Amino acid sequence: MSRKAIYPGTFDPITLGHINILEKAAGIFEHVVLAVSGFTGKSTLFSLEERTELCRESARHLSNVTVMPFTGLVVDFAKSQSCHVLIRGMRAVSDFEYEFSLALANKKLSPRIETIFLVPSLKYLYLSSSIIKQAAQLKGNLSDLVPRHVAIALADKFK
Ligand code: COA
Repeated sequence: MSRKAIYPGTFDPITLGHINILEKAAGIFEHVVLAVSGFTGKSTLFSLEERTELCRESARHLSNVTVMPFTGLVVDFAKSQSCHVLIRGMRAVSDFEYEFSLALANKKLSPRIETIFLVPSLKYLYLSSSIIKQAAQLKGNLSDLVPRHVAIALADKFK
C-alpha cells in the first residue's frame, strides 16, 4: 500500500490551482513530494531554482509535503523516492488527452507507476500558468490566482 505520492509539474509559476490539488493530495497521502521538473519541453519564465523556491514557500503550511527539484524522467525520480504513485490535476475534458497519453507513457517507461487524477475546486478550473503570466505581463490583479509571494516574483520579472 502506498503512503507516499509525487505531484510533478513545471510550476512556472505555482498557482492557487496547483496548491488546491496539493492540499487535496496532502489530505489523502501520508507524505507528498511536490516535484519541480527541470526538463519540461517548454521554455520557462522562472529558473528551476526560482520555481522550486516559490513552491517551497507555497507549501510551507503543509507539514507532510516536501518540495524537490528533479531533472530526468519523472518515473526515475519516483523510483529514487521509492514511490509509484503520481498525482496529476484534471481541470477539464481538454486536459484528458494529454494527461492520458502522459500517464500511459509513464506506465510504459515504468509499469509499476500509477497515475491518480484529482479534480481542482470549481473556482480554479480555468487557471493555468500561461494565463497567470499573461495577466502579470499586462499588470492584471493576481490576488485570487496566485499566493502573494508569487505575485511579487511575477511583478519583478515583468517590471
Ligand atoms: N491549476 C492550475 N494550473 C494547472 C493545474 C491546476 N490544478 N494543473 C495543471 N495546470 C496547468 C499548468 O499551469 C500548465 O499550464 P501552462 O501550460 O499554461 O504552463 C499546464 O497545466 C500543464 O503543466 P504541468 O501540470 O506543470 O505539467 P507539464 O505538462 O508541464 O508536465 C511534467 C510536467 C513534470 C509532468 C513533465 O514535464 C515531466 O514528466 N517531465 C520530465 C520528463 C518526463 O518524464 N516526461 C514524461 C515521459 S516522456
